[in-house]
Amino acid sequence: MNVLGIETSCDETSVAVVRDGVEILANVIASQVDIHALTGGVVPEVAARKHVERLSVVFEEALRKAGIGYSDIDLIAVTNRPGLVGALMVGVSAGKALAYALGKPIVAVHHLEGHIASNFLTEPTLQFPFICLIVSGGHTDLHIVEGHGRRRRLGSTRDDAAGEAFDKAARLLGLGYPGGPVIDRKAKEGNPQAIDFPRAWLEEGSYDFSFSGLKTALLRYVQQNSDSLNVADAAASFQEAIVDVLVGKTVRAAEEYGIPRIAVCGGVAANSRLKAVMSEEANKRGYQLVIPPLILCTDNAAMIASAGYFQYVTAGESAIDFDTIASEALAG
Ligand code: KG4
Ligand code: ZN
Repeated sequence: MNVLGIETSCDETSVAVVRDGVEILANVIASQVDIHALTGGVVPEVAARKHVERLSVVFEEALRKAGIGYSDIDLIAVTNRPGLVGALMVGVSAGKALAYALGKPIVAVHHLEGHIASNFLTEPTLQFPFICLIVSGGHTDLHIVEGHGRRRRLGSTRDDAAGEAFDKAARLLGLGYPGGPVIDRKAKEGNPQAIDFPRAWLEEGSYDFSFSGLKTALLRYVQQNSDSLNVADAAASFQEAIVDVLVGKTVRAAEEYGIPRIAVCGGVAANSRLKAVMSEEANKRGYQLVIPPLILCTDNAAMIASAGYFQYVTAGESAIDFDTIASEALAG
């Protein structure tokens, strides 16, 4: 089954063709990052307008790369939630028009279900259940994934998402946007033990996260050391505080529930220190660890096509009058 995936929830315009949930035939991504770097963050109206300008070109390119025509599309999968509503609407309108014109089914996909599916694109043999850490610009969630579309949420962030914390920290340190990749790079030159930033473990046994205290601690540190600020040390120490908590809670969940499989996905899964420490801890315990390659960690339509395929197989198509939704936690 050839699934056409469409992703426009934030600042990536992406169209992909994925066969049977796991085989990527094309995954075309037009990033707006250069445009949003000018404003230091995503301006929703600008994002939506850029999606309108680029979507049809990206779509044609995806079909060409996949070597298929319109009539070879069997299912359309589009992100309808959560995200910037104006941006989501561009992809959803295109997906609906296509489904209607071709007489093909459509499924409305939750963006985080897409991030979870990126693990199957990476490791199609991944067995259920597994512990899944979703870390992106908008979300920090820890789940036990029990089946396609079946999961139990163990915890979420109570304030900032991990990626958001990276983005805000980079701004404070004058490193630009997006923050995750620049902090990752800068941290390599610094000492992660130089500054003892707080780790928010929260109440005993909690799988929730909180990064706002860390952000405030960094702000205070920057203000107090403005004459002699070592940006590399601050970036490395800040990153270490986030990685410690993300790895600590994920590994504790695997231990507590006796599940020897961990998957890490979302934009922050691209972080080199997170990958290194998670690998080390997983190896020590003999756990399987899946972390998608960079191109599947950040937003892309292949993960939406994959999630859409499994959703269609397990729950059927969506009624074509579905809405776009700005905010909706992944149930579980
Ligand atoms: O999943 P994603 O592309 O978009 C959302 O759904 O939010 O994630 C984007 C986030 C941004 O906050 C970005 O700073 C972060 O992922 N990110 C990273 C790295 N690369 C991207 N964070 C830490 N280290 C990285 N190498
Ligand atoms: Zn995302």
